[in-house]
Amino acid sequence: MMVNNKNYKKITTNSLLELKNKGVKISMLTAYDFTLAKIIDNAGIDIILVGDSASNVMAGYETTLPITLDEMIYHASSVVRAVDRALVVVDMPFGTYQGNSKKALDSAIRIMKETGGHTVKLEGGSEIIDSVKRILSAGIPVMGHLGLTPQSIYKFGTYTVRAKEEEEAIKLIEDAKLLEEAGCYAIVLEKIPSKLAKKVAETLNIPVIGIGAGANVDGQVLVLHDMLGMNHEFNPRFLRRYLNLYDEITKGVKQYISDVKKVDFPNKDEQY
Ligand code: KIV
Repeated sequence: MMVNNKNYKKITTNSLLELKNKGVKISMLTAYDFTLAKIIDNAGIDIILVGDSASNVMAGYETTLPITLDEMIYHASSVVRAVDRALVVVDMPFGTYQGNSKKALDSAIRIMKETGGHTVKLEGGSEIIDSVKRILSAGIPVMGHLGLTPQSIYKFGTYTVRAKEEEEAIKLIEDAKLLEEAGCYAIVLEKIPSKLAKKVAETLNIPVIGIGAGANVDGQVLVLHDMLGMNHEFNPRFLRRYLNLYDEITKGVKQYISDVKKVDFPNKDEQY
C-alpha cells in the first residue's frame, strides 16, 4: 500500500466484509479533527470513527450525552477533509435517533450531506431498530454498537463490563442478529466478556469490531487520544498505550517556556 501517492484502495463497507471473510483483522481509531485524521489515514488505518467520545475528549464533558448534532457535524467535516483512504463513520449523538425514526433519518441525512462522512453509527438493539431500518432505507450504511453503550450510562450506573449475566448476554446476541438482519454492515461490541464477543463474531456474517471485547472478533477500535497516552486518568484493562504523549508534550512545552524566559528562543536564525 502506498498511501501518499494515492496508489491505494479506498476502504468501503464491502471491503470490510472482504477483510472478515479473508480473516484479516480490521483496524479502527477515533479522530475528531483534520490534523490527527490526516496522520492516521496516511498511516493506513481502515476505519476512522468520529466518535461522540468527542464530548469527553474534545469538550471535557463527563459523559457523551451533551454533544450536539451541530458539534458532531463540525468534527466530522474536519475529519472528512483530511481523509483519502479510510472509511469515515460518524456517531449519531444522544437524542437524535432514539424513539423517533423520522427524526433519526433527518439527523442521519444532515450528517451525510453536511460532513461527507460515509456511514453513521447508532447505539442499541431492538429499542432503536425502527430508526436503524429507516436510515438504511435511505441508502445510508449503519454500524451498530452493543454492550457498554455510553449514551445509556445513567441506565447502567457504571462503566463496568456488560452482559456478564446470561439474560443480558442472550439479549445482546439477539440484538446483534437483529441489527444484521436489518442490514447493518458491521457492529461494535464494547466492554463485554471475550467469550461472548467471540460467539457474536462467529454467529454474524458482518464484521464485529471490539473495544474491550477480546481478540476473537474481526477488528479492534480504540479512542486515539487514549492509545497515544494523552491522559493519565483513564486506565481500563483493555487499553494499550502506544505512546506517552502527555509526558512528551509536557516536556516540549516546559522546554519552550524555559527558552522564552531565557531569551534563548528565538535565536538569530529564527528571526528576520
Ligand atoms: O465514541 C466512541 O469513541 C466510540 C468508541 C468507543 C467505539 O463509540
